[in-house]
Amino acid sequence: MAPYTSAQPALSWCIVGRGAIGLLAGARLQLAGYPTRLWLKQPANLQLNFTDIQQQNKQLCLLPQQTNSPVQRLLVPVKAYDVRHAVAQLMPYLANNAQLVISHNGIVPLQPLLEQLTPEQGLWFLSTSQAAYKPAPDHVIHSGTGSSYLAKLTAASWEDDDIVAAMTVALGPLSVVADIYPLLWQKLAINVAINPLTAIENCQNGQLAAPRYQPQIEALVSEVCQVATASGYPMDISSSLAKVYQVIAATTNNFSSMQQDVQAGRQTEIDAICGYVCQQAAQLNIAAPANKQLLMRIRALTTAT
Ligand code: PAF
Repeated sequence: MAPYTSAQPALSWCIVGRGAIGLLAGARLQLAGYPTRLWLKQPANLQLNFTDIQQQNKQLCLLPQQTNSPVQRLLVPVKAYDVRHAVAQLMPYLANNAQLVISHNGIVPLQPLLEQLTPEQGLWFLSTSQAAYKPAPDHVIHSGTGSSYLAKLTAASWEDDDIVAAMTVALGPLSVVADIYPLLWQKLAINVAINPLTAIENCQNGQLAAPRYQPQIEALVSEVCQVATASGYPMDISSSLAKVYQVIAATTNNFSSMQQDVQAGRQTEIDAICGYVCQQAAQLNIAAPANKQLLMRIRALTTAT
């Protein structure tokens, strides 16, 4: 990770929450010279132990965001169902030209979020396959090398290069794309196949390589491909299935985010994953029984706990 070298001082970044991806980004930004602050429900210094991908340990201190200076750069790596609430809470503290980068699994309608912003504020979406986890609340481990895609959802502005540079440091290698939706649909195919099944079976991702899960995974992914294609994002079933099995193999010992949420009794992202597929399918008059079944099962599991 290259240190920040521009003649201009690096603008500070505010990161919402203390999730694994946010802390990974925060640690990498701070180590590269970007002043980095956390926006937490209970503001406090975080003495963070960061284990990088080379398994080197680094000690950092991430300070809480001060409310007396406007937030210029905001990374919102929170769950899909929390984004609107998190941004609404921060609105009074955002600079007039603040740039916001959101990042989560699944797809949620972005229009309500866009409507909250002023014309000079910018909204970006970052989709990442970097892997990180927290063995303790003050320890984040960068456990798997991935990459990230970044797209601007609002009009271009002169500040765009510095956002791309910072996000490359935080979660790169990074590619900038004009339209994030083809990638979001591809990631959705991976999440519908892995997340609910691992949560129901209470297993690591690798267990889904067993032949008995194949018919269900094929049905789930085939529904995503039909709905994405009918929505204007053509997706091919066999290459999408190949990607799903690649991710299962690459993350064989990982517990998916939904497995962890269900085990911890937390709300899951099922509405933005299978729920989004069902919603879009209904609008397009396409049947999506496999996604509907898992949507219902995960909802039942989480309301029962
Ligand atoms: O949500 C997750 O856990 C991840 O997106 C993925 C790719 C399924 C790997 O566990």
